[in-house]
Amino acid sequence: MHPTLTIAVKAARRAGNVISRGARDLDRLTVTAKGPKDFVSEIDRAAERAIVDTLLDAYPDHAILAEEGTAKGDNADAENVWIIDPLDGTTNFLHGFPQYCVSIALAQKGQVTQAVIYDPVRNELFTATRGRGAYLNDKRIRVTKRLHMADALIGTGFPYTKFEHLDAYIAILRDLMQQSSGLRRPGSAALDLAWMAAGRYDGFFETGLKPWDMAAGCLLITEAGGMVSDLKGSDTYLKTGHVCTGNPDIHTQLLKIIAPHLTDALKSGKA
Ligand code: IPD
Ligand code: CA
Ligand code: CA
Repeated sequence: MHPTLTIAVKAARRAGNVISRGARDLDRLTVTAKGPKDFVSEIDRAAERAIVDTLLDAYPDHAILAEEGTAKGDNADAENVWIIDPLDGTTNFLHGFPQYCVSIALAQKGQVTQAVIYDPVRNELFTATRGRGAYLNDKRIRVTKRLHMADALIGTGFPYTKFEHLDAYIAILRDLMQQSSGLRRPGSAALDLAWMAAGRYDGFFETGLKPWDMAAGCLLITEAGGMVSDLKGSDTYLKTGHVCTGNPDIHTQLLKIIAPHLTDALKSGKA
């Protein structure tokens, strides 16, 4: 394993331990609302601290972009930026719904080069280094080979705080319900992307994501042989937060189903 990835894995496992301990006594957690339907618990913050401490111990000069507010360095220009979601799927976690994960990516000169997604519930560790493939625990993973949308299982995330794209989103769902083999919304975008890389979905799309939801998962998918784009097929997804992924065949078909429903705002990526 690449030495930088080893450090990221150590950080992810430490955060996973914090999360698993917290999950044993959900009723005692202090939870605050960052905005409507947007909650953060002391566990999100403690997990973020564990990750940042581990990474900066090894790489004191690196910059940090983390969901719960840890920012260090001028992220826009920094050569090495760690992009961190300490607990992706907080709503699930708070409800005891066992679908959440830790997501850590390293971007070097703007390109994601290392990715770790750790699921503490199943003890599943997804890792990738650019150019060296994607792994689940120690096993190489690849996207599915399914060719037709009628056979495909598609993942997604529902809009739940901002609803400006809701009509377009529902129209896409309506088409997919009829044309795919099934739709799923488990509630942790980072883990969804890892599962896409591992061949548990044939395609996945969501709007309005943040870099920390996507950075690690998207590298896992491309390293597993999948395609990642925004909703119109270009590569702006980390900036716009609108993402469409799939194995090469299903990705093309998913983009075709989405295309007629794209609004100007979704096309230009203004969320
Ligand atoms: C959320 C989850 C969810 C997705 C949301 C994210 P959080 O992250 O990934 O699946 O639909 O867009 O914000 O807030 O639990 O870290
Ligand atoms: Ca998240
Ligand atoms: Ca989070």
